[in-house]
Amino acid sequence: MNNDELVDAARKAAEDAYAPYSSFRVGAVVVADDGSVFTGANVENAAYPASSCAEATAINAAASHGVRRIQTVAVACVDADDVEGAYPCGHCRQIMSEFDVGKVVVTAGPVSEVREHTLDELLPHRFTL
Ligand code: THU
Repeated sequence: MNNDELVDAARKAAEDAYAPYSSFRVGAVVVADDGSVFTGANVENAAYPASSCAEATAINAAASHGVRRIQTVAVACVDADDVEGAYPCGHCRQIMSEFDVGKVVVTAGPVSEVREHTLDELLPHRFTL
């Protein structure tokens, strides 16, 4: 999948988000090292910290099917495309670090441009064991 296709798939995944508290639906697509694809959306909870971001949902789906290295994570939101907020939160950047994510594709900015980043750009000097 090219970046535009990844973003389309992330937007489609966002349609299934459960976001009654924020009304901010986010979708994510994970492409594993072997090319297998997993999707996820944010799943909120009345106890807010119990919520899961879209990236975490998708990465946990991949990891629980045996994936240990991830080529690409794409993220998109469908309710507010024109915000920088489509960038992964810090918690999700650390989750990406665990599985050696190579490339992060986001939509952001006033015209929802598709941007590509390395994880080092998004999370420099990251914590590993
Ligand atoms: N959210 C994500 O799913 N991914 C991010 O990277 C940032 C935020 C979700 C969490 C919450 O359900 C909603 O967006 C508003 O913060």
